[in-house]
Amino acid sequence: MKQPQGPQSPTFVQTLQWIFRPMQYMEECAKRYGDIFTMRLGAEFDPLVYVSNPKALQQILTNDTTTQFTAPGDINKIFEPLTGKLSIFGLSGKQHQRQRQLMMPPFHGDRMRTYAETIAEVTEKIMSRWQIGESFCARTSTQAITLRVIMQAVFGLYDSLRAQQLEKLLGEMIDEASSPLSVTMIYFPFLQKDLGAWSPWGKYLRRKALVDKLIYDEIRERRENFDPSRTDILNLLMEARDEAGEGMTDEELHDELMALLLAGHETTATALAWALYWIHKFPEVRSKLLAELDSLGENPDSNAIFKLPYLNAVCCETLRIYPVAMLTFPRVVQEPVNLAGYDLQPGTVLLGSIYLTHRRDDLYPEPKKFKPERFLERQFSPYEFLPFGGGARRCIGFAFAQFEMKMVLAKMLSRFDFELADNTEIKAARRGLVTAPNRSVQLLVKGDRIVKSRSLETVSS
Ligand code: HEM
Repeated sequence: MKQPQGPQSPTFVQTLQWIFRPMQYMEECAKRYGDIFTMRLGAEFDPLVYVSNPKALQQILTNDTTTQFTAPGDINKIFEPLTGKLSIFGLSGKQHQRQRQLMMPPFHGDRMRTYAETIAEVTEKIMSRWQIGESFCARTSTQAITLRVIMQAVFGLYDSLRAQQLEKLLGEMIDEASSPLSVTMIYFPFLQKDLGAWSPWGKYLRRKALVDKLIYDEIRERRENFDPSRTDILNLLMEARDEAGEGMTDEELHDELMALLLAGHETTATALAWALYWIHKFPEVRSKLLAELDSLGENPDSNAIFKLPYLNAVCCETLRIYPVAMLTFPRVVQEPVNLAGYDLQPGTVLLGSIYLTHRRDDLYPEPKKFKPERFLERQFSPYEFLPFGGGARRCIGFAFAQFEMKMVLAKMLSRFDFELADNTEIKAARRGLVTAPNRSVQLLVKGDRIVKSRSLETVSS
């Protein structure tokens, strides 16, 4: 029986490596043990097998609701301190499938396109704060945009004091939960001790309690004045009934909203900050992108922007080179199975390593180089390029996230000329449970493209 190999160092040491240098550690393991290896991060997830072999990923992700593998929610405990136990992350089987069917439609097709206007308005509002000659932190701005957009998708038109408080607190809560200390507390639950308002966990819990209260207040108010004509996600969830005709409880609604608010903005905000970095790091990428955007003329239609091939390639390459989510959620082996030559036993936990798959040089020659052209020159299978995972737990926001990225980039680049304020290299580092640039991407606003083109028009006429 051939078993996946892995480091022999104590669990505690492996866990620290995984917390503080996850990408380097995965790379070292892959180099030494191949594209299917074991890591040991404590009893609950033991053994934990990391997979970056596209054939094996295909086998797992096309069979993750069968007798071979499952995608259970109870294993996603790591998200509980953020969302609670009852969100989509924690659901399994039929219940999970039903919840996905309910929540997917608003993030796809025509429903998704109705957010184009909101995205444009919110982006305009954030851009109105920028001054020529000044620089700003890309991530702070993109996070403000994506948070406002997901709040509108979830709650509908939402411009109250409560909305503002919620936005502020959610932003702070995420920042706090992203520090290395918080991540250590997440991986070592015995450190999750409330030692008063000044202790790290105590501080986190108090802020979380404020967020929870705002969400519960909103749910209560919406139940009291239920308006069936609203099309936002909270309404959709409030109207849903299970087989027994029961609606969702307040706690279920709360946990689901938290999952969407968190998953639905941080990831896209980071991807956008990366895209802005790469576009301005390589002037030729920026020029090609501007030529493509300009070819659409003034006030282009969102569909036309969405279909632009080079913009699409830039977004794909951004999500390839440093995928925001390093891993898929865990899948679990159900019966003895052979995976790409390895014999795995029931109970083995599998993680798709999105990061390692995207760094394979047999698929992506010179994988460390940012080259959008790869995505114009060939098509990658869903098991070679999988920034949004796959199978039964594939990201429900995958289309929405790409749509939002393209709309925001088109809006920003068509409006202003930017330059990186500091051109030194930026790498990825862990930020909470995902990854992000290891320092702030600062953009300098060099000029207003619209004013410039209008004055050129005046000169020529
Ligand atoms: C660039 C942005 C994003 C990236 C890279 C990303 C990535 C991912 C990944 C890798 C997964 C796990 C998939 C798996 O295990 O196979 C996931 C799950 C999920 N994502 Fe996203 N995501 C993004 C944006 C969004 C947005 C905008 C939303 C909300 C609208 C969202 C909501 C979710 C939810 C609810 C799940 C859990 C699905 C389930 O458990 O069935 N994500 N995402």
